[in-house]
Amino acid sequence: MEFSSSRNPQQILSKIATNDGHGENSSYFDGWKAYDSDPYHPINNPNGVIQMGLAENQMCFDLIEDWVLSHPEASICTPEGVKNLMQTAIFQDYHGLPKFRTAVARFMEKVRGDRVKFDPNRIVMSGGATGAHETLAFCIADPGDAFLVPTPYYPAYDRDLRWRTGLKLLPIVCDSSNGFKVTMEAMEDAYEKAQEANIRVKGFLLNNPSNPLGTVLDRETLRDIVKFINDKNIHLICDEIYSATVFSQPDFISISEIIEEEHEIQCNKDLIHIGYSLSKDLGFPGFRVGIVYSYNDAVVSCARKMSSFGLVSTQTQHLVASMLSDEEFVDKFLAKSSERLAERHGTFTRGLAQLDIGTLKGNAGLYFWMDLKKLLREPTVEAEMELWRIIIHEVKLNVSPGSSFHCSEPGWFRVCFANMDDETMRVALRRIQKFVIFHCKGSDSSAAAATTPKKNHCRNSKLKLSLSFRRLEDRMAQHHIMSPHSPMASPLVRAT
Ligand SMILES: Cc1ncc(COP(=O)(O)O)c(C=O)c1O
Repeated sequence: MEFSSSRNPQQILSKIATNDGHGENSSYFDGWKAYDSDPYHPINNPNGVIQMGLAENQMCFDLIEDWVLSHPEASICTPEGVKNLMQTAIFQDYHGLPKFRTAVARFMEKVRGDRVKFDPNRIVMSGGATGAHETLAFCIADPGDAFLVPTPYYPAYDRDLRWRTGLKLLPIVCDSSNGFKVTMEAMEDAYEKAQEANIRVKGFLLNNPSNPLGTVLDRETLRDIVKFINDKNIHLICDEIYSATVFSQPDFISISEIIEEEHEIQCNKDLIHIGYSLSKDLGFPGFRVGIVYSYNDAVVSCARKMSSFGLVSTQTQHLVASMLSDEEFVDKFLAKSSERLAERHGTFTRGLAQLDIGTLKGNAGLYFWMDLKKLLREPTVEAEMELWRIIIHEVKLNVSPGSSFHCSEPGWFRVCFANMDDETMRVALRRIQKFVIFHCKGSDSSAAAATTPKKNHCRNSKLKLSLSFRRLEDRMAQHHIMSPHSPMASPLVRAT
């Protein structure tokens, strides 16, 4: 007998279970699927897709592995650490281990140059920043309420903040004319639109440093935002998950510094909350160490109760507390991490600049924001998606299209660079190089053209989407131009 539920699951499940609020159907996740079905491997699958759509930090695992090996007592599954196994296994307090909260608060201070203090009693655990943001949304807003969020923004906010809470996200539209600055005018405009639509705005979600832009906000903008939210009496939720990925000037300025500037600004601290995790700064997304840090006592208390749904395991707390309490290690890690991110970012962006491909000037994050507007057939989202499909399926790079970040201008792409080794990075650069040279130069496929790209060579050219990149590859081979897997002799590599 067939049960009715197996014929139509929509009828017996909840609205949350059957709506597509998870966002899995977006191009952002499609790119991941393309990678999953054909992943690049230098030996087993050298023509596979290279994953450049994942903001993962793999740059310093040598340092972390060394630390773990030289501190066997920090793990509970070693002869040196097993004496802590029982206490760790039975501990289940949702306040978290005091040594964990103290170590995380201290780490957050260090990352902010010791210019601010964090109170360990305000550290609340969550399952990654994903859990932190949802918890904050549950504490602050009711279904149907809205948060304003500057564009472009991290695609999974649509899932994290909206799906289970019933919250709305309303865009504050920013564009490249001023480097995607968040202006007072754009904030007021978004707020006014919400009022016209009769939507109650309860908060402002700010991501600093920004994913996808790779930029940090300046002091003036942060002050403007604090003035704005105080004026409207709405909450400010600051996602500072990339705070330690800043690799060059200007320094990162945390919201926690701005609200201490009492001579400059009047702020109701009850409106200020930070979402954080160790997923990016330490590269631990698998550990699910998320943090809600709120200046509002009621939010701390409510978030702590809610944290039962997303606690960090005590085993992870134990390890992280030991590691982050080693200040010498933390200092070395932070310095090396910035150094390596700066080098990787520089290699990629200089390589692209030599091809006259622009990137937004950035100094943070695990990615950069690449401008391919001049390769679009026309300035539309459809044309952006056509170009993106070529990049995924023919160039075999999973980069993420700007439209998936709600970018208001077609032609921008986020390119992640910290989730691969040096050799994969070189292969990725060679693929971009070949792609740009052939699509921009059209039939000019001489070997010289491949190694000495001229400035502005794409300025007036449009992408010929009918031209198969694979056919072009064949032509490259006929002209004895290097294959993506041969040793590099191009200016791109010399730039590294
Ligand atoms: C801006 C931003 N916020 C939050 C998250 C979620 O992080 P977590 O893995 O800690 O849940 C990410 C992950 O990519 C992110 O880029």
